[in-house]
Order: sequence, then structure tokens, then C-alpha cells
Amino acid sequence: MRNDFLKACRGIKTDYTPVWFMRQAGRYMPEYQKIRKKYDFLTMCKTPEIAAEVTLQPVKVLGVDAAILFSDILILLEAMGIEIKFIEEKGPHVSPTIRTSSDLKIIKELNIDKIDFVFETIRILTKELDVPLIGFAASPFTLVTYIIEGGSTKEFVNTKKFMFSESDSFHNLMSICEEATLRYLLKQIKAGVHAVQIFDTWAGILSPSDYEIFVKPYIKRLIEGLKIVPVIYFCSNTAGLANHLKELNSDVLSIDWRIDIKDAAHLFKDQPLQGNLDPLALLGTEEELFKRAEKILVDGNLAKSHIFNLGHGVNINTSVERLKKLVDFIHEFKREV
Ligand code: CP3
Repeated sequence: MRNDFLKACRGIKTDYTPVWFMRQAGRYMPEYQKIRKKYDFLTMCKTPEIAAEVTLQPVKVLGVDAAILFSDILILLEAMGIEIKFIEEKGPHVSPTIRTSSDLKIIKELNIDKIDFVFETIRILTKELDVPLIGFAASPFTLVTYIIEGGSTKEFVNTKKFMFSESDSFHNLMSICEEATLRYLLKQIKAGVHAVQIFDTWAGILSPSDYEIFVKPYIKRLIEGLKIVPVIYFCSNTAGLANHLKELNSDVLSIDWRIDIKDAAHLFKDQPLQGNLDPLALLGTEEELFKRAEKILVDGNLAKSHIFNLGHGVNINTSVERLKKLVDFIHEFKREV
């Protein structure tokens, strides 16, 4: 197995910078669209042969150094007795929502067998892949925002209202999600994933002190419980949270483009970093794209080790050819030792 990605996760510098992309499997790819025309997204996630095939598509087409399991962060909710739907053009829909302490009883005891398709997909993939497989879950906080809001939102009004009015119950909800997430990721590891990424997509909406109270302790415990494989923590708007993120002890910290990777290398000394190209740089000219990619590669070399990625998922309008050229550019780039 090509293991440059895993070496970089462990802080070892390899001959070239390993690269993979968040949302590397998806609608920007004609191969994906072909399957997606026949099945809806949830059916694709729930059919191990299809989920495995779609996971492999970007590995074959782009030549990336790691695969990420094809699934969604919301799948875990089905094992907790909460229904999820993906509505065309509108995104995810979660029901029923939990907005007060009395709603907490809605959550059922975790029935992980209900989502056995995830582990079956992993088992199929470990036989077929020649690069490491990344498993993933939402952070307890990001999952909680979906349970409370019922879908994607900009302002997180209900989440913050709950948090600032019934903080004990909010903590209870976080604990339930922490335990479910730990069991879910441990089962992914048992099924064969080589690393896990925790998506804390929405943690950046909190003030640093609320992050410290409502998010940090849960992430810290979760990371400690998962240490059998490298743990990547992805968070947006990292700069303001730097002091807290340092203490999480994740094996890799995945950063977005709102922080310069040079500054991140300085702030997070001795910390392997992942990131941090603006995904929309892939929509501009090739010259601008490679200029930005080169800067990230040069400055990323200042970190303990660096895994190239985007600061968020691949945009649907991205050209596959352009993305492939970017992978080749990264692999051919000779960094100064
Ligand atoms: O990265 C990968 O290739 C692995 C698969 C993956 C998906 N979602 C597939 C997906 C991963 C790791 C996710 C994570 C995820 N899902 C996050 C965290 C990361 C992030 O993007 O911030 C979040 C917030 C979700 C929830 C979610 N799922 C939303 C908001 C949407 C709708 C947005 C959209 O693009 O339509 C999804 C759907 C989704 N998840 C798709 C894919 C490929 C699109 C499905 C389709 O219509 O074909």
C-alpha cells in the first residue's frame, strides 16, 4: 500500500507532499453523475457495492494518496432514531428536531447495526484499495447543530438559543453524541479504516470561550479514545481558536484558507497540518491556481509535515482535468529539504 499519507499523519516528511480532497467523490465527476442518475444519494450511501465504487472513482481518476469513505456525516443519526432525507436543491433534512430538554427523549439508544452498510463498505474497500482509507464522522457539535436546526443554516439561532438557555441539557445532548460518535468511529476502525477525520464544519460559529466550554472537552475525549489510528480534526475559522486547538492533541489539524499556512505552521508547531487551498481557486485560471498551490507547498514545508487538501469540499463546478493537473503538480513539486 502507498503509505505517504499515513507517514505524513505521523509527522514524517515524505519525498512528495501527499494529497487528497474533501468531497473528492461527488457531482463534479461524470462517473459519479452516471450512477447518481439511477439512484438517490442515500441509496448510494446505503448500498455497499455502490458506495465502494464511488469511493474508488477519485482514487483511480485523480491519483490521490488516500481514499475517503463515501457516506455522509448525518448517517449516524439513523442509528440514533432520527430520520434524515436529502432534498434535491435544498440539502439535508433532519426530523424530528430537538430544541428543548424535554425533546431529548426522542433520541433512541444507539443501534449501530442499523447502519451496518457503512462497515460493509469499508470491508469491501480494504480489499480493493492500494492507498489508505479515511473513515469519518461529524464532531458531536456539528452533529448537534443538525439535530437542533433540522438542516443547514447560516445563523444557528436554535442551536445558540438552546445552548444559552438550557446549557445543562445542551451538554447532555453533546455527551450522547460524543458517545455515539466514539462507538461509530471505533467500529469503522475495526472494519478497516486507516485514519479518521472528525468534521467540525460549524465549530467556527462559536466564540472561543463558548468553544472552550461546549466543544473542546468533547473533542479532546473523542480524540483520546480514537488514538489507535491517526485522527485528523477539521475545523473552519481556526485562527481565533488556535489556543484551544493546540491542546486537542489531534494527530493532524486540517485548516481552511482563512489562515495562512505559514502562520498556522508557526502557531501549531510540531503539529502535522492538512490543507488549505480555497476550493474556488480551482475555478480561476490555471496560472492563479498553481501560484496558490505552490505557495501552500512551500509554506506547508514549515509545518512538521503537510498533507495537501482544500480548505473545504470540492465545488460542483470543478473540472476533473484541472483537479488531476493539480494532483500531478503537487506530486512533481520538489520541496527544499
Ligand atoms: O469527502 C468525500 O468525498 C466523502 C463523502 C462526504 C460527503 N459528505 C458526501 C456528500 C463527506 C465526508 C461529507 C461530509 C459532510 N456532509 C459534511 C462535513 C463537511 C462539509 O462539507 O462541511 C456536511 C456538513 C455534510 C452534510 C451534507 N451532505 C450537506 C450540507 C449536503 C448537501 C450539500 C450538497 O452539496 O448538496 C450533503 C450531501 C452530500 N454529501 C453529497 C455528497 C457527495 C451530494 C449528494 C448528491 O446530491 O449527489
